[in-house]
Amino acid sequence: MTPIQTVLGLETSCDETAAAVVRRHDDGRVEVLSSVIASQIAAHAPYGGVVPEIAARAHVECIDAVTEEALSEAGLSYNDLTGVAATAGPGLVGGVMVGLSFGKAVALARNLPLVAVNHLEGHAVSARLGADIAYPFLLLLVSGGHCQLLSVEGVGACDRLGSTLDDAAGEAFDKIAKAMGLPYPGGPALEALAEGGDPGQFTLPRMLLGRKDCDFSFSGLKTAAARLAEGVTGEVARRDLAACVQAAIATQLAEKSDRAIQAYAASHPGEGLRFVVAGGVAANRAVRERLHATALANGFSFDAPPLAYCTDNAAMIALAGAERLSLGLSDGLDAVARPRWPLDARAAASHPSHPPGRKGAKA
Ligand code: KG4
Ligand code: ZN
Repeated sequence: MTPIQTVLGLETSCDETAAAVVRRHDDGRVEVLSSVIASQIAAHAPYGGVVPEIAARAHVECIDAVTEEALSEAGLSYNDLTGVAATAGPGLVGGVMVGLSFGKAVALARNLPLVAVNHLEGHAVSARLGADIAYPFLLLLVSGGHCQLLSVEGVGACDRLGSTLDDAAGEAFDKIAKAMGLPYPGGPALEALAEGGDPGQFTLPRMLLGRKDCDFSFSGLKTAAARLAEGVTGEVARRDLAACVQAAIATQLAEKSDRAIQAYAASHPGEGLRFVVAGGVAANRAVRERLHATALANGFSFDAPPLAYCTDNAAMIALAGAERLSLGLSDGLDAVARPRWPLDARAAASHPSHPPGRKGAKA
């Protein structure tokens, strides 16, 4: 076990090819020495979403150049590393295999320990890239593929309190934006359009609010908004509709977080109460503001990752790897790419948020 970890992180689970070098000191202090992201947005934009085959090929084409750039930006060589961390799932398996295989090759060639990182664990630690946040904390993980509330007790120890029954919040942003004719990815485009809009001009359904659990649902909202979008023309009305959609998503996230906050506080008496939001949708200002207010109203602290680490990046994967390495945890070169890999396997099996399918629960 090395007290100071200098870890190369690799992320290829969706449409960003990313490499980063993160140093974690033995007192827990974290330095991001580099974080390089090659986005494939332009390659997928004509199709209005991510095409898995295009993504996998694009990762193959640039993973070595992106890694070289991350090392050179950090001013380091492979010899300065103490480990390699690669996303091993969940995600588009063709892309995951590219990053994981590359990570294995580096580990083998340089005799470095490998960590096969769960992408969701990367998001879970991402706020720790910008602030010193102790375990345990309550996490809202809200991205394009995931929407769940988790009690994060420590490295690799999560209890799921709730999750989406259908779409993820980012997916709802993306699909509604597409219905409104906005470019991919829809979340940032919809946020830009919503600027200055009046969220009171339209009424959208409020999903599952009567239920006493912490689960989410966005499909009714998505259908209602897409139907409204068909009849909305003119810049002012479009702006109002975007503001209304954004407010409806923020409201649901805040109300379910409020329930989870209360459940979490009851199960963690006498502890520092921390609420963290992570994932691509955490980049949305209206969402951040609503969640911040919800946390403070309940006596919780509030943290979100720096904007650059909300959406997919390799710095969060490197940090997840460094935390595992500092506990003496690593994986063999036989680690497999996993399209499905829930953080809380027990909750996912007993209460799947997506139909379980042949290979078990997805998230
Ligand atoms: O975490 P991420 O990069 O990938 C996944 O692991 O899914 O999240 C991407 C998602 C997309 O759905 C994107 O539209 C959404 O995050 N997103 C946003 C914003 N920035 C990214 N949604 C709303 N507002 C934003 N500013
Ligand atoms: Zn992600």
